[in-house]
Amino acid sequence: EDSSLPKPVRIKLDDTDPEKIKLGDGKDTKGTRVRVFGRVHRERKQKGIMFLTLRDGYGYMQVVLAGQLAKTYDALTLTRETSMEILGELAEVPAGAHAPHNRELHADFYKIHPGWKAAGGDDAITNRVSKDTEHATLLDLRHLTLRGETASKVLIVRDAVEYAFNVVYKELRLRKVSPPALVQTMVEGGATLFGLPYYTEEAFLTQSSQLYLETCLPSMGDVFCIEKSFRAEKSLTRRHLAEYTHIEAELDYINFDDLLNHLELVMCRVLEVALANPTVKQYIMDLNPEFEMPERPFKRMKYSEAIEWLVENNILNEDGEPHKFGDDIAEAAERRMTDIINRPIFLTHFPAEIKAFYMLKDKDDARVTESVDCLMPGVGEIVGGSMRIDQHEELMAAFKREEIDPASYYWYTDQRKYGSSPHGGYGLGLERFLAWLCKQHTVRDCCLYPRYFGRCKP
Ligand code: 4AD
Repeated sequence: EDSSLPKPVRIKLDDTDPEKIKLGDGKDTKGTRVRVFGRVHRERKQKGIMFLTLRDGYGYMQVVLAGQLAKTYDALTLTRETSMEILGELAEVPAGAHAPHNRELHADFYKIHPGWKAAGGDDAITNRVSKDTEHATLLDLRHLTLRGETASKVLIVRDAVEYAFNVVYKELRLRKVSPPALVQTMVEGGATLFGLPYYTEEAFLTQSSQLYLETCLPSMGDVFCIEKSFRAEKSLTRRHLAEYTHIEAELDYINFDDLLNHLELVMCRVLEVALANPTVKQYIMDLNPEFEMPERPFKRMKYSEAIEWLVENNILNEDGEPHKFGDDIAEAAERRMTDIINRPIFLTHFPAEIKAFYMLKDKDDARVTESVDCLMPGVGEIVGGSMRIDQHEELMAAFKREEIDPASYYWYTDQRKYGSSPHGGYGLGLERFLAWLCKQHTVRDCCLYPRYFGRCKP
């Protein structure tokens, strides 16, 4: 290192930090000598010059190693993913050339500290992960594929979206709680419960925190949680996980219309908050160039109208027959309908028999419930919600109808004994919301380490 050069400023590559925005817009950077740390994302040699793209999780920076710097042993044997410390002067890229934020670092010194070199040869990351690598192998290598641009952008958008939900719920004065994951009751049917030995008893991994959220209303007002839910789904679909992040809210003293309006507001406001961050906005547009803010109000469609629509459009049920009232609308049919309509849909008023025991019946049509699924193009259902039965007798009758022993639900049924209220809520699958927002084919690519039928590693 040449000590006569100006003292370098240590920077990261982030362009969201105020100090670093200057670097991002490329205006005040020219001539600044800086020290950066990052991993080699790409490398390219050209007439004795090496161009590196350095990555640090906050951004990418082009680095130019010229002259002697490109001829050292370390430079000649440089492998992707090697960690480097680099000193140099920031410059605008020459006219006609392209680099992130139109700037590049003209290195005058670099160091690869002991242990920072990435494996080369057969073990090089480019040999372990390539375009031809089988899907299952790529999933085994998730710890490495996470370093790729698409995976990291999705996860950075995920961070921003999850944060935005917290912000928006706070704007709406909801309080955050943290219900247990280990439970002894089911919410969404016995078929998808994961059971486990719990000391001398049996317990399950929770399917939804809804029932616990309901118990918070009397003392905490409207509440939400962002917790894991677990479903022992045996089907391998692109939108089912065994473990997923469930964003759930419960609102007190509301009616069904209030619930729908709230849901629409939350979803749109979350998008606004997330997109207000320029990096996040850029990543969303990179992943999903056609993204547009959904139009409000969302289309509202009753289940019975959806059945008619499916019949008119010749979309058959799972038995290959025209849909009829009472059918569960299967994933494929639901997605086709959503894709054709091509805008968010609130599908409401599902028949009681195909929905959960706790859902409130519609006063004007006892066949159906005040329930809603929010459907998004490309994914289908991303939210499920409803008004809840708030009368004790009616709730007990629902347990009986569904052949559920109410004994272990005493803490839930007690809510109807000690000052009940009209209330409702919903659960949104974060991975499904992201699959829609980031236009990902499967929810598996929208979580860090996906868990689904047949996969519990890495
Ligand atoms: O429709 P679901 O089953 O509703 C409930 O669990 C309610 N108790 C929530 C509530 O009212 N508080 O699930 C809600 C959402 C679905 O719309 C979907 O987005 C997501 O959770 N979800 C899954 N996501 C990934 N993998 C799975 N196996 C999922 N099951 C549900």
